[in-house]
Amino acid sequence: MEQTLLLIKPDGVKRQLTGEVLARVERKGYVMTDLKMVMATEELLSEHYAEHREKPFFPDLVTYMTSGPIVAVIVEGARVIEGIRSLSGSTEPTLAAPGTIRGDLGRDWGTGQIENIVHSSDSPESAAREIGLWFN
Ligand code: PPS
Repeated sequence: MEQTLLLIKPDGVKRQLTGEVLARVERKGYVMTDLKMVMATEELLSEHYAEHREKPFFPDLVTYMTSGPIVAVIVEGARVIEGIRSLSGSTEPTLAAPGTIRGDLGRDWGTGQIENIVHSSDSPESAAREIGLWFN
């Protein structure tokens, strides 16, 4: 069965949206096979976001992702990688469709800083790599 990594980012945890996000995942029929709360280090984030390390938004992304605990979850199900991406919605909360996690719950401060609640793997290769990083 396919697996993906879902992260509930510090804004989602702080705003007590962990249950809301996980309820959506479970209602869709996916199964959580492992879950933990972690404080991300800059080193872990540099690996996780390796392809974005040189992007101008990377320092802000690290500040955001280290601003509090993250809930990391391994989610399993048929076509779960595409499915969780679809439940999450597009990156920018303002543009994410209503009905998606980011469209319903994400925040856009209009300053270039976005708080988009969740991360999920975008391919089988990313899922394997990211699950290895976050769950050793
Ligand atoms: S790119 O340049 O189009 O490939 O980048 P993108 O896929 O849009 O974003 C890569 C990840 O960086 C996060 N991101 C941000 N977070 C906070 N604030 C700002 N301004 C910002 N810009 C990009 C974005 O959510 C992606 O992370 P994940 O965890 O995959 O959502």
